Amino acid sequence: MTIRVCLAGATGWAGSAVALALAKVDDIKLVSAVSRTHAGKKLSDVLSEPNLDSPIFATAKEALSATPCDVFFEFTKPDVAKSNVLTALEKKAHVVVGTSGLTDADYEEIRVSAEKNQRGVLAVGNFALTVVLLQKFSEIAAKFIPQWEIIDYASDAKKDSPSGTVLELANRLSQVRHSELTVPLEGTQGVKETRGARMSGSQVHSVRLPGYTISVDIIFGMPDQKLTIRHDSGTSAQPYVDGSLLAIRKVNTFVGLRRGLDSVLDLS
Ligand SMILES: NC(=O)c1ccc[n+]([C@@H]2O[C@H](COP(=O)([O-])OP(=O)(O)OC[C@H]3O[C@@H](n4cnc5c(N)ncnc54)[C@H](OP(=O)(O)O)[C@@H]3O)[C@@H](O)[C@H]2O)c1
Repeated sequence: MTIRVCLAGATGWAGSAVALALAKVDDIKLVSAVSRTHAGKKLSDVLSEPNLDSPIFATAKEALSATPCDVFFEFTKPDVAKSNVLTALEKKAHVVVGTSGLTDADYEEIRVSAEKNQRGVLAVGNFALTVVLLQKFSEIAAKFIPQWEIIDYASDAKKDSPSGTVLELANRLSQVRHSELTVPLEGTQGVKETRGARMSGSQVHSVRLPGYTISVDIIFGMPDQKLTIRHDSGTSAQPYVDGSLLAIRKVNTFVGLRRGLDSVLDLS
């Protein structure tokens, strides 16, 4: 059966890469799109892809009212994301959330609505398979190695620090354990800030310099041995596409809220 999708943010950097991929698959049909600046046009006119003939609406509410869909895909901005997701659930659509910046409290509200409406919500902070594996391998390492530090690299222009990937990594590791410190931070002699920031039980150091895109090193240390796991992101949105399509195909297989692509992958 074809899965009908409404894609909010279909004209954006990430959303347009997903839309162009949807034009090439048979089991998913893009039936509507959301973008304020292109409202009233067809997506084919904006993305120059004749297979994407879906109409563009200015708001998620208009798109969901005009055309029924099975899955609503949220790829806009944090200020409208929660309200879009709640509207989609009221309209009985399953929801995939790619937009970053929603809080745990937002997700609690979304979980309640998903259960009330008997629909699935899959929220994925990073759809790239290599990031999913970075998280998984780091969680396994943290079970065996009690000390680690995280180094977050990005370009000099990046305003937020640390990156969303590092925030999510630190948060996930905190569910395994907190990294131990041989010398407590308050016992540091010299400049304490050089030891980085304590975030969710990890020491995090952010580097912002021209020449970097986005990378992360997580270094696990034991006496006389070290393990470094490194992830590097490129500049295109292509790494997020396969994970997004997988999320669309899997979100109707459960009711309630799941977070992370690994929650629908068999990584055992
Ligand atoms: N989970 C992941 O793997 C992943 C990967 C990449 C990005 N992201 C996140 O995804 C989000 C989008 O990133 P992006 O780089 O693609 O942004 P972007 O290039 O600015 O695109 C945003 C899209 O949303 C639409 N939009 C924005 N505000 C809107 C509003 N109030 N109402 C309706 N449409 C609105 C924009 O169209 P108009 O301006 O015409 O309205 C555009 O189509 C961000 O939160 C980003 O951090 C997540």
